[in-house]
Amino acid sequence: MCGIIGYLGKQEAEPIILEGLKRLEYRGYDSSGLSVGDKNKITMLKSVGPIENLEKLIATNALVGNWGIGHTRWATHGAVTQENAHPHTDCQKNIFLVHNGIIENYQQLKEQLIKEGHRFVSETDTEVIVHLIEKFFQGNLEKAVIQALKLIKGTYALVVISRDDPEKIVVAKKSSPVLIGLNGNEYIIASDPSAIVSYTKKIIYLDDDDVAVVTKNGIQFTNLNYEILTKKTQTLEWNLNEAQKGGYPHFMLKEIMEQPQSIKNSLAGRVIEKDGIVKLGGLENIKARLQEIKRLIIVACGSSYFAGLVGEYLLEEYAGIPTKVEYASEFRYRQPVLDKETAVLFISQSGETADTLAALREVKRRGVLTLGIVNVVGSSISRETDAGIYNHIGPEIGVATTKAFTSQLVILVLITLFFGRERQMSFSLGQAFCQELYSLPALAEKILAQRENIENLAQKYKKYHNFLYLGRKYNYPLALEGALKLKEIAYLHAEGYSAGEMKHGPIALIDKNFPTVGIVFQDSVYKKTISNLEEIKTRQGPILALATEGDEEIKKITHDVIYLPKIKEPLMPILAIIPLQLLAYYLGVSLGYDVDKPRNLAKSVTVE
Ligand code: AGP
Ligand code: GLU
Repeated sequence: MCGIIGYLGKQEAEPIILEGLKRLEYRGYDSSGLSVGDKNKITMLKSVGPIENLEKLIATNALVGNWGIGHTRWATHGAVTQENAHPHTDCQKNIFLVHNGIIENYQQLKEQLIKEGHRFVSETDTEVIVHLIEKFFQGNLEKAVIQALKLIKGTYALVVISRDDPEKIVVAKKSSPVLIGLNGNEYIIASDPSAIVSYTKKIIYLDDDDVAVVTKNGIQFTNLNYEILTKKTQTLEWNLNEAQKGGYPHFMLKEIMEQPQSIKNSLAGRVIEKDGIVKLGGLENIKARLQEIKRLIIVACGSSYFAGLVGEYLLEEYAGIPTKVEYASEFRYRQPVLDKETAVLFISQSGETADTLAALREVKRRGVLTLGIVNVVGSSISRETDAGIYNHIGPEIGVATTKAFTSQLVILVLITLFFGRERQMSFSLGQAFCQELYSLPALAEKILAQRENIENLAQKYKKYHNFLYLGRKYNYPLALEGALKLKEIAYLHAEGYSAGEMKHGPIALIDKNFPTVGIVFQDSVYKKTISNLEEIKTRQGPILALATEGDEEIKKITHDVIYLPKIKEPLMPILAIIPLQLLAYYLGVSLGYDVDKPRNLAKSVTVE
């Protein structure tokens, strides 16, 4: 999920790889490493922390050769340690490999390989690949790589070299990006064009299941059946700044657009459709303890708190667990009633939010079971909770959360299924959930395709200074998150409210200058929400509705509708937040603000 770089050519590889790694730094990473080879040997160096630490190692250990690979790691499996940093190598230290992504069936493969005598030195999922390649290696690296790939389930961008098949780099891809840059007889491989735009603008992107064999004589592309492929060389039009953002003008838009993939990553390896269950590695070990839990408290801040509110609806409705959600900043100064039958779930993208961390420490002091949903592996909250689940969505750089929020919702559905299937949820309902979870990425894609329409709506609505966001039930927390996005990014006053509660006060604000974003899907509260919006219409309040595809009724209330595909009610927030993120984004941009770094905000709030 982080950075890869590889080089083969006539120059010394080390400075080129190091430069590439530095260009990838903006993505965030926790450790780094590289392996450089000449005809006879390959030398590997790895270190935790910033690239400078790696540079210090290089200064005292010469890396000679014109062929090598490098990596910046964003840990998904295994702590942030030198052993877990990439490259990884086999028992004979013959093969060296860097990997972005997640190997879902690594546990099984690892057990088998250990039985066969392989010795593992890291806790990563990645290491199984290099041992598999070792197992199949008979002098030809690409053959061994292809055999290994046939056994692997998951996502990967892989770059592999071997001492016994020298001056060759094998590259493979599934779901994680990787490309090869061409500069005469030099080849430079990267997970992200920003690492190489300063060398060359001629690049070839690998597609899923492609394998590229790079030697001094050129590149050969095949698929996993050894069929030769012809690939197109493209000329990159981006400058460095654009390349870092994947061609998008802002990280925020890039991350919004990444959501189909990040949702997939959060689901990867966790949903077992045939049994209608989910497997959450982080909770398996404490399954017995979890069976005794009769009550949950979710503690978080900001958007993570709103995700928690959706979790409350989910866990009560489908797992039958009484759940309550608290702001960490309030919880830590209260006297919460906690007992052995309560578990406290902390949600935090960064894993470093001071309020959430302080609440966690207090709960731990009271001896209560603590769980976490965290994106940053090895962060304080991930380390200090008893058990938890990682989002697995890679670094989020935009200050306003987008892909982490949708991922938190996905994980909360998974936790609900995990608890629910142990308790009251039927097999068929479990299975229906699993199927619908799999359909989310394609539906998210469909929504993102409407972004031009949303951009136009932003133009229309940018003249207003105040907004009301309304939703009910699962969409009430969404109204809160939609309003927060608008405040953070477009500096517009916005209030999120439960649609039913609006008549108890905020209705007094409504007039023709106070628009409402109404979230109104054809779900269990459809008619009720429509009635609430009618009250707004009566008072001349403009309405922008988020509605279910095919709903003509809604047009009686408003002309401005963003239609979304239908999915099970509790999953709807995962999709419905996307147009609200886009709306805030386009409003912020059209008002001329720096949407990636909104004023007064920090990505992780480490002060009280
Ligand atoms: C989200 O857009 C915010 N910037 C903020 O509310 C954030 O969700 C909150 O600070 C919690 O952060 P965390 O998930 O890293 O703990
Ligand atoms: N899953 C691998 C690990 O944890 C790769 C992480 C990455 O993509 O940086 O080491």
